[in-house]
Amino acid sequence: PLVSLRQVLDHAADHGYGVPAFNVNNLEQVQAILQAADATRSPVILQASAGARKYAGELFLKQLIEGALASFPHLPIVMHQDHGTSPSVCLTAIKHGFSSVMMDGSLLDDGKTPSSYEYNIAVTQEVVRMAHACGVSVEGEIGCLGRLDTGMGEAEDGVGANRTLSHAEMLTDPWQAKEFVEATHVDALAIAIGTSHGAYKFSAPPTGAVLDIERVKAIHDTIPNTHLVMHGSSSVPQDLLDMIRKYGGDLKPTWGVPIEEIQRAIRWGVRKINIDTDLRLAMTAAIRKHFAENPADFDPRQYLKPAISAMSAVCRARYVDFGCSGMA
Ligand code: G3H
Ligand code: 13P
Ligand code: NA
Ligand code: ZN
Repeated sequence: PLVSLRQVLDHAADHGYGVPAFNVNNLEQVQAILQAADATRSPVILQASAGARKYAGELFLKQLIEGALASFPHLPIVMHQDHGTSPSVCLTAIKHGFSSVMMDGSLLDDGKTPSSYEYNIAVTQEVVRMAHACGVSVEGEIGCLGRLDTGMGEAEDGVGANRTLSHAEMLTDPWQAKEFVEATHVDALAIAIGTSHGAYKFSAPPTGAVLDIERVKAIHDTIPNTHLVMHGSSSVPQDLLDMIRKYGGDLKPTWGVPIEEIQRAIRWGVRKINIDTDLRLAMTAAIRKHFAENPADFDPRQYLKPAISAMSAVCRARYVDFGCSGMA
């Protein structure tokens, strides 16, 4: 059934696990996620970004998720809107039946320019008022993650994207998080603890910790009843990069967030873990391999089938590693 983010994350908090939130843009991605969730009996968070809404259209995305709900009635499924840039974007999603919305007021409605803290509180309060009246959950965000556009060359020093900003400016302050939650009543809060969006997170293999776990602990201590969300949580598997390169792809050396670090973050209160890039890498690797090995194929089903399998394998691994399996 369709459930709210609050319902799924309350259960995750009670049982000490984390739930991957996977980005969806088309039928094949929805199928890959649901196959993995069904095989592992895991709760499902499907999220649609602004880019997804532009690509597929909000109504098509909604109907794809309706299809998932009808096909897998035994699984709890959250229909979440990722990175809403304004209250009106969130309101439209609520009208279309989304059970959860993110109001990312850390940026202005151009989705790029960092906003003032006062602006963030005001727009988030407005969304919470509308959403909670409809039983819809709200995710807010404070702090500055890496850039949203997934262009090349973001990470410079193997430590994290946007490292040119001062460290304190970039990461979420625990006391500000508390004040923000008290002012807005968000159900979940995206925190900046060292991750960034896209494939190019770290330009060297992580030798030590890449996440600021002490900060996660401190934030969790100040707002124990608000579920913490980690964006930019792809692990950028090296075997997928190798496969893409082997079959003609051109990807620069890059590393993501190690699974063990995500597991540590889950132990300290992170409940929603956003993953998009790893799914893109898996589909791309499978499609490149298929075309290299079957140059005469031209039926989309022939190359999308292995893409679904490859993406589903990543989803299954995340469900298992984050402790979701058997929880639905
Ligand atoms: O938040 C970023 C997600 O990876 C979505 O990316 O805007 O290209 O769909 P997108
Ligand atoms: P990745 O780019 O690390 O997969 O992060 C996705 C994300 O945070 C979507 O909101
Ligand atoms: Na931000
Ligand atoms: Zn994000």
